[in-house]
Amino acid sequence: MFNIENIRKDFPILSEVINGKPLIYLDNAATTQKPQAVIDTLKHYYEHTNANVHRSVYTLSERATKEYEAARDKVQKYIHATHREEVIWVRGTTEAINLVAQSFLRPQLKAGDEILITAMEHHANIVPWQLVAEQTGAVIKVLPINDQGELILDELDNLLTSRTKLFAFTYISNAIGTINPVKWLIDKAHEKGIPVLVDGAQALPHVKINVQQLNCEFFACSAHKGYGPTGIGVLYGKKELLEKMPPYQGGGDMIRTVSFEKTTFAELPLKFEAGTPNIADAIGFGAAIDYLSQLDWKALMHYEHELFLMAKEALKEIPGLRIIGEAKDQASIISFVMDGAHPHDIGTIVDSYGVAIRASHHCAMPLMKRFCVPATARVSFSFYNTKEEIQVLLEALHGVKKVFGLP
Ligand code: ALA
Repeated sequence: MFNIENIRKDFPILSEVINGKPLIYLDNAATTQKPQAVIDTLKHYYEHTNANVHRSVYTLSERATKEYEAARDKVQKYIHATHREEVIWVRGTTEAINLVAQSFLRPQLKAGDEILITAMEHHANIVPWQLVAEQTGAVIKVLPINDQGELILDELDNLLTSRTKLFAFTYISNAIGTINPVKWLIDKAHEKGIPVLVDGAQALPHVKINVQQLNCEFFACSAHKGYGPTGIGVLYGKKELLEKMPPYQGGGDMIRTVSFEKTTFAELPLKFEAGTPNIADAIGFGAAIDYLSQLDWKALMHYEHELFLMAKEALKEIPGLRIIGEAKDQASIISFVMDGAHPHDIGTIVDSYGVAIRASHHCAMPLMKRFCVPATARVSFSFYNTKEEIQVLLEALHGVKKVFGLP
């Protein structure tokens, strides 16, 4: 078992005072807080390492390159990629998905081809496919969900057709926490020879990723959802596919030779990494992985799940509060609405108690439409949250009722 007080000490922001109250941070699905080890790594990088990578022979540049590439190795190991060059640095999940849309899919799409997504996708796993569909005349198909917020798996066979060129779905819903049967979905697509992209943004902080076991063609994630810095993420892709794909962006570092007549491109992974990369934050991502790797992951996830169950039970007791999405398999994310109080008002009032929650459509407007709500209030937990914080959340929600004179 781990010591929650010690864990909390690793995250300096948790001592912050907000509106005169101790910060209670329950918006971990939007971004996680950063451990001191990550903060120190970023500071150390700029104080002792900062130079451009892959470009010079002087000591500092070699030092930066070494640390930057070591971070790639850490990610490779963490997600169990077979080859280090299957790990492409990107700004985050969004950029990874756009890269696959434009570089993998666009060259092969013909009018009438299909891209299958699901009804619970984040806009980042909808809009890039719509853009490429508009560019090519392809069509988006959507696997529906039931009232619990689970995929309707019986419909999958009909939706995976001979025209389906990619199945892209989220591992865990950012808005309602559903954990999808990822391996089963991948295998179903593969039975028909259809490649798969997994949006792993919410998976990184909650499940151990093994891309070899999953056997997906592409996996996208962002460091900041998993205790690393913002502005850096990873596209994992199977080497044989990445090798065949054209570059996504042109610029420095992604070329072998350039002339006005013809340019040849660098090998993987640099082919997809045009321009000066986000060196410091890639190294910071490596530090987050180091930090997580020395913790008892199983114990952390068990504890986080206990928090989730406790919060869910307590929220259900509040009259007029309705939870949106109650999948059998759910990560520590709870969305809800309250009769008589708009989610934005809930978010604002609980903030006066020091409680940070997200109130919005969660970048999943089609999902909100499916549940006939414009928005929800969402609490999402990390292993650094506590049972006492849940009590304050409940008090704050009773405060909301008081403000609106609700029963
Ligand atoms: N995708 C992030 C969230 O769910 C921003 O809040």
